[in-house]
Amino acid sequence: MNDSNRPAYAASSDALIARARVAALAAYAPYSRFSVGCAIESVDGEIAVGANMENACYRLGICAEIAALTAAQQAFGLAKIARIAVAGGHVDPGGALAGNAPVTPCGGCRQAILEAAHVSGRDLEVTSANGDGTETIVSRISELIPLGFGPASLEDADPEAIRPA
Ligand code: THU
Repeated sequence: MNDSNRPAYAASSDALIARARVAALAAYAPYSRFSVGCAIESVDGEIAVGANMENACYRLGICAEIAALTAAQQAFGLAKIARIAVAGGHVDPGGALAGNAPVTPCGGCRQAILEAAHVSGRDLEVTSANGDGTETIVSRISELIPLGFGPASLEDADPEAIRPA
């Protein structure tokens, strides 16, 4: 899935994918039985993680990427985010994350990552891995959400509007 412009990380050697896979094991996903983990690495090599957390009121469930972004904000700040890994699937009888298809972020999470990309000033790299970590897709957030609506899209708002600095 890689071309010359895309860094390729062998699943077995990418520690960030490994952290995302472990994070998925702490998911609370009794309804979908689909566990997702996300690991976010800072420019200094710190790692923040999150997993999906579902709710009996289904629409209130939280995605792994959102959980990890809030953890990253607390741990080192959105400005220091360097790259993101996502992995998901089911927990097999042996307790390991398994599954064939790489988990690419949902639309809402792409929007949240776009905001973090704006804050960091980087076109953030997102690695999507399958459950067992053997298949990956490496993308930039600009590819995942082309023509995205970001902070710069608010330039034409009423100048009196109250917006983040
Ligand atoms: N999920 C995530 O955590 N991240 C995504 O990008 C896609 C979906 C979760 C939400 C829900 O708990 C489960 O996966 C099934 O949709």
